[in-house]
Amino acid sequence: MSGIEGKVVAITGASSGIGAATAAYLAERGARLVLGARREDRLKEVVDGILARGGTAAGVVMDVTRRDGLTLLTDTALDRFGRLDVLVSNAGTMAVSPFDELRQDDWDAMVATHITGLLNGVGAALPVFRRQGSGHFVNVASTAAYVVKTPQGVYAATKTAVKVLTEGLRQESGPDLRVTLVSPGLTDTEGVGKGASPETAEAMTRLRDEIGAPPSAVAAAIGFAIGQPDGVDISEVVVRPTAQA
Ligand SMILES: NC(=O)c1ccc[n+]([C@@H]2O[C@H](COP(=O)([O-])OP(=O)(O)OC[C@H]3O[C@@H](n4cnc5c(N)ncnc54)[C@H](OP(=O)(O)O)[C@@H]3O)[C@@H](O)[C@H]2O)c1
Repeated sequence: MSGIEGKVVAITGASSGIGAATAAYLAERGARLVLGARREDRLKEVVDGILARGGTAAGVVMDVTRRDGLTLLTDTALDRFGRLDVLVSNAGTMAVSPFDELRQDDWDAMVATHITGLLNGVGAALPVFRRQGSGHFVNVASTAAYVVKTPQGVYAATKTAVKVLTEGLRQESGPDLRVTLVSPGLTDTEGVGKGASPETAEAMTRLRDEIGAPPSAVAAAIGFAIGQPDGVDISEVVVRPTAQA
C-alpha cells in the first residue's frame, strides 16, 4: 500500500504538539487514525477536531510506559480498522534539569517514556506487522540525539537510545517493514520547558518563541516518510529551525 490515504496509523502522544499536528496532517490526507495519550480531555479535542473536518480517528487513553497501554492502542486499530500500517512513537517529556537538582523522578520518566515506551510499541506492533507482511515504525527522537547541550544530559541520552534502537530495529526488520527516525529540533509546542527547572524552562520557552519551527513541519516530515512507495524506506530525517545552532 503506497501513499497516506487509507493507511491505519497509530500515534502516541497525540493529545498536543507534534503528535496532534501529525494526526491533523495525516487525517487531511485520508489516513485512519488511532490516537493515544493520557489526558482524555485534550485527546478528545484532537479526535473531535478531526471528525468535524470529515476525518477518521479514534482516541485511546493510554500510558506508553505500560505494556498494556500499547497493546490497547494496537488492538484498537485491529478492532476498528482490521489492520495497523504505521506506529508513530512520539510520546515524550522534556522535563530537563541540571544533575545537581537530583530530579530522579524526571530522569525515570524520560527513561520510561522514551526507551521503555518505544520498546512497548515494538512489542505490541511488531507481531502485527510480521503477520501482515507489512508495517512501518516511525520513532520521534530529537536533535538532542546528535548533540548534547546542558542541562539536557538525561533527555539527550534517552533520545540517543531512541536513535540506536531505531537503527537496530531497521537492520532486523527485513524487506517487508519500514523503520524511520524523525529528529526534530526546537519546535513550537507546549511541551518545551514543561516540568523543567524554572531557569531552564524560561530559557527554553524564550528560545522556542523566538525560533521554534511549527509542529506542522515535523508532521510533514513524518507524512513524507509514510507516503513513500512500498519498498522505499526513509530511514532518518532531521528537521529543525534554520536559526538553531
Ligand atoms: N518541541 C520540541 O522542541 C521537540 C524537539 C525535539 C523532539 N521533541 C519530541 O517530540 C515529541 C513530542 O513532543 P512535543 O514537543 O509535541 O510536546 P508535547 O506537546 O508536550 O507532546 C508530548 C505528548 O506526549 C504525551 N505523553 C507524554 N508522556 C506520555 C505517556 N507516558 N504516555 C502517553 N503519552 C504521553 C503527551 O500527552 P499526555 O500528557 O496527554 O499523555 C503529549 O501528547 C517528544 O518525544 C519530544 O521529546 C520535541
